[in-house]
Amino acid sequence: MNSPLAAPLLAIEGLRTVFATDDGEVAAVDGVDITVQRGRTLGIVGESGCGKSMLSLSVMGLVPAPGRIASGRIVFDGEDLAGLPAERLRTLRGKRIAMVFQEPMTSLNPVYTVGFQIVEAMRVHDPRTPYGELRSRAIAALERVRIAAPAQRFDAYPHQLSGGMRQRVMIAMALACSPDLLIADEPTTALDVTVQAQVLDLLRDIQRDTGMAIVLITHDLGVVAGMADEVAVMYAGRVVERAPVADIFNDPQHPYTLGLLGSMPRIEDERERLLVIEGSLPPPGRVPAGCRFHPRCVFGTHACTLQDPPLFSLGPRHGAACIHAPVERFSMQRTTEEAA
Ligand SMILES: Nc1ncnc2c1ncn2[C@@H]1O[C@H](COP(=O)(O)OP(=O)(O)O)[C@@H](O)[C@H]1O
Ligand SMILES: [Mg+2]
Repeated sequence: MNSPLAAPLLAIEGLRTVFATDDGEVAAVDGVDITVQRGRTLGIVGESGCGKSMLSLSVMGLVPAPGRIASGRIVFDGEDLAGLPAERLRTLRGKRIAMVFQEPMTSLNPVYTVGFQIVEAMRVHDPRTPYGELRSRAIAALERVRIAAPAQRFDAYPHQLSGGMRQRVMIAMALACSPDLLIADEPTTALDVTVQAQVLDLLRDIQRDTGMAIVLITHDLGVVAGMADEVAVMYAGRVVERAPVADIFNDPQHPYTLGLLGSMPRIEDERERLLVIEGSLPPPGRVPAGCRFHPRCVFGTHACTLQDPPLFSLGPRHGAACIHAPVERFSMQRTTEEAA
């Protein structure tokens, strides 16, 4: 295991990804800093629309027009991807960095067999390898993602497989070239709970066997609980808290994280339930001044409207973007301001 002091596999610094709209450019990712250590799993959590997919597409160089990376660095193994020529990026993508998406049906081509599609994914990086050998490797890959009767399934079309099986096929394709980093964007959101657990188990086993790093993106804190080493909580295009996974659950410091935990169904405690977040996420371009979470925050004070808080350090690996953190001070702060 690498020490935390070793150079990270991926370091994102000050990333801003914007979209051109009729009202000018709006930021979907608005100044994100993130690091991923080799062989480890970073969970990225936040409600739908907070910029998780735009962040992952930025790393992959796949931001759709009219979007673009406006500023920041995406340093992968010492190389800044944000400034890379398209051709070099294509080589890295799928070879050292692979991605699986939420909806495998839209990523698989319905007119080709799954075997053919895995072979093609391998052929991009091994153009000289004969078909027979790629076919054997593809069948081995299907076996590795625990698809039963892989030789028969090689000839199946996507619609002949269940959602869970299609997601396994996508993982097999992503692994075809032994990536150092797998970005999994809501990989289990479309699956029922049992199949979801099986796919997460599979990812964990593959990581143990290969040592690849994983960025696991989800709107569901429950998904990161058993998977992630570190967690970054995103809100409105920004990371508002990051910490080792145990601290996120046992010592959350940002009111938004507290709210996400309060929204988790298994928490029955009365005190936690009071923290369920009211209101909705502001879209890009409508982010309020000051702390972007303050209009929805049960601990919000006048001071929160005045400055956009940076990530304050609350421990060696724990940061939260809240002027009232650490959390014990929330209630006291409020009482003092109300009295003033
Ligand atoms: N092509 C686009 N043009 C303008 N805004 C977009 C575009 N694509 C996504 N967005 C906006 O960017 C924000 C972040 O989207 P996304 O990264 O998909 O969120 P998440 O994956 O966290 O649900 C959303 O508000 C979304 O509406
Ligand atoms: Mg998304």
